[in-house]
Amino acid sequence: MTIKITGTGSALPEKRVTNFDMAELVETSEEWIRERTGISERRIATKETVASLATQAGKAALDMAGCEASEVDLIITATCSPELLLPCCACQVQSAIGAENAVAFDLNAACSGFLFALNTAYAYLQTGLYKNALIIGGEVLSKLVDWTDRSTCVLFGDGAGAAFVEASEADELCENGRKAGIEGMVMSSDGSKGMVLSCAERGLSNPYSEASGEVNPYIYMDGQAVYKFATRQVPACINEALDKAGLTVEDVDMFLLHQANVRIIESVAKRLKSDISKFPMNLSRVGNMSSATIPVLLDELNRDGKLEKGSRLVLSGFGAGLTYGASILVWGA
Ligand code: UT7
Repeated sequence: MTIKITGTGSALPEKRVTNFDMAELVETSEEWIRERTGISERRIATKETVASLATQAGKAALDMAGCEASEVDLIITATCSPELLLPCCACQVQSAIGAENAVAFDLNAACSGFLFALNTAYAYLQTGLYKNALIIGGEVLSKLVDWTDRSTCVLFGDGAGAAFVEASEADELCENGRKAGIEGMVMSSDGSKGMVLSCAERGLSNPYSEASGEVNPYIYMDGQAVYKFATRQVPACINEALDKAGLTVEDVDMFLLHQANVRIIESVAKRLKSDISKFPMNLSRVGNMSSATIPVLLDELNRDGKLEKGSRLVLSGFGAGLTYGASILVWGA
């Protein structure tokens, strides 16, 4: 048994914010942002929420798959920026789409969130416990960004992406002889380095607690530390996943990496000794949307007809935690 992605969807806020707009807010320039990150513009929520974007993306994925909401077994929403701590975003999506028979919960692995959700769904479906899952990565990071901090506010964008995955028979062969489905995965965490990318919640505030002091409610990032971590760990974990599956870099048709920085993606391509043309990117238009980057990219490629049956994709995410991982997927839709 393996799984097949039978539908994808995405949703972006209406408001476009260009690098020129950013230069009016903080001391930066269009060139600096574009040259250092590859980002030209991003979408910022003015009325949208994580729940509304996730709902829109999730509905689009179900529509493509031709699945009724009442047939959905499991909903996992990966997010680190929900509006509400309770109830979780996945339960809000469940209610909004009318998936009354689904079990729904959130998962927070920051920018690796969608990948971890995909792997979690895969594990559930493999046991036979559920036969399908709607997995969503959604963020409104603009709430967590300090809009006076030029080193972080220029990087992030808001959005959501979704995939509907269904259990499928492992012996289904594509025309090129490959079996559709997940061929391998690696997931890793290194909590000891977690504070290089952090964002605080509320501190203790009960009558018995010691004063917890000032907390910074905004995203803090040691950009260079994260950059070094990503350029070292991402190629290593992709190679590990490929090794485990008995495959090499040459066997891969497309690498869908977390869209944080074009220089990180170029460096990973170089370390893997693979052609940069195999690394599709959309960050110039949408910025870093954390857990939403991979599913939004996947949906754009799918809707543009760029994913052929039998194509071998590597999805790889990395981010706060620190968390990172890679999954190898033969496209079978
Ligand atoms: O999804 C989560 C994962 N996050 C990431 O993957 C982010 C990884 N890190 C990066 O992508 C890069 O480190 C950044 C894009 C965040 C920064 O690029 P960098 O080349 O590492 O720049 P830097 O932090 O070394 O800063 C270089 C200079 C500094 O000035 P001084 O100290 O050299 O005078 C910064 O103050 O650039 C300055 N700077 C800016 N200048 C203009 C920082 N931000 C800006 C800005 N505009 N927006």
